[in-house]
Amino acid sequence: MHRPQTVLLVGGTGRTGRQVVRQLLERGVLVRAIVRPGAALAPDLARHARLTLTEASLLALTEEQLQRQVFGCDAVISCLGHTLDLQGVFGPPHDLVTRATTRLCRAIIAVKPATPVRFILMSSVSVHRAGGADARRKLPERVLLGLLRAVVPPARDNQRAADFLQHSIGPYHAFVEWCVVRPDTLLPGAVSAYSLHEGIVSSLFEPDSTNMANVAHFMCELATDSTAWAEWKSRLPVIVNAAEAPTATAG
Ligand SMILES: NC(=O)c1ccc[n+]([C@@H]2O[C@H](COP(=O)([O-])OP(=O)(O)OC[C@H]3O[C@@H](n4cnc5c(N)ncnc54)[C@H](OP(=O)(O)O)[C@@H]3O)[C@@H](O)[C@H]2O)c1
Repeated sequence: MHRPQTVLLVGGTGRTGRQVVRQLLERGVLVRAIVRPGAALAPDLARHARLTLTEASLLALTEEQLQRQVFGCDAVISCLGHTLDLQGVFGPPHDLVTRATTRLCRAIIAVKPATPVRFILMSSVSVHRAGGADARRKLPERVLLGLLRAVVPPARDNQRAADFLQHSIGPYHAFVEWCVVRPDTLLPGAVSAYSLHEGIVSSLFEPDSTNMANVAHFMCELATDSTAWAEWKSRLPVIVNAAEAPTATAG
C-alpha cells in the first residue's frame, strides 16, 4: 500500500514556514513540526490530524531527541530565520541556521535511513555557490556582501549553513541529499508563476521579488516530487516571481 510521505519542518511558525505547513498538509503529507514553546500556528493547522507538533527549543534538543524526530522522515525542511529585530539579528544564537542544519544532518546520518533523506534549506540570494560557480557580482555588490557578512550575523550564518551542505555533505552522501533554495526579497501573496535559475539573476541593488507562497510551493515540490528533486538536488536554485525574471529559463 502507498505510504504517505513524512516531512520534518523547522521554522514552521515563520512567515514562509506557515505556508509550507499548510501546503504540505494539503498534499496529504504527514508533517512533524518542531516549534518554540508558546509559538503559534493557525488553530486549524495546529489541530490537523496529519500534523505532529513538538514544542521545544530546537538547539536544546539532545542528539537522541533529534534522531527520534528525523527517524522515518523522507525529507526535512528548514525555514528557520533570525527574527527581524535587534535581538534576533544581533543576539544569540548567531549560528541558528548553521547549527540546526548541522545537527539535523548528523541526526539523519546517525539513524542510517535506507534511502537518503532530502534536506531542503530556505536560504537567500545573498548566499553563493561554492567554487565561484555563480556569476561574479560587480565590485560594489561584493563590498556590500562582505560588509553584511562581517557585521550582520544572519548573513554569515546563511552562507555557513549552505557551505556545510556543499562541502561537508557534498553531492554523493549515502544518507543525506540536499537543496538550498535561494529566494530574493520576500513578499506576501498567493502562489503564482515563478522561475528557477541555476545562479544569481539580479543585482543586490535592483533585487527581484519572490512570493513566500512560491518558496513554500517549490520546497513542497522538492519534498514530494521525484522529478523536481532529481533536477535540483545538490544545487542552490534561485527562485523569483516569473514576471520579474529577465529570461524564461525556468527549471
Ligand atoms: N526577509 C527577506 O526578504 C528574505 C529574503 C530571502 C531569504 N530570506 C531568508 O528566509 C528565511 C526565512 O524567512 P521568513 O521571513 O519566512 O522567516 P521568519 O518569519 O522570520 O521565521 C523565522 C522562523 O525561525 C524561527 N526561529 C527564529 N529564531 C529561532 C531560535 N532561536 N530557535 C528556534 N527557532 C527560531 C521562528 O520561530 P518563532 O515563530 O518562534 O519566532 C520562525 O519559525 C530566513 O533564513 C531568511 O534569511 C529572507
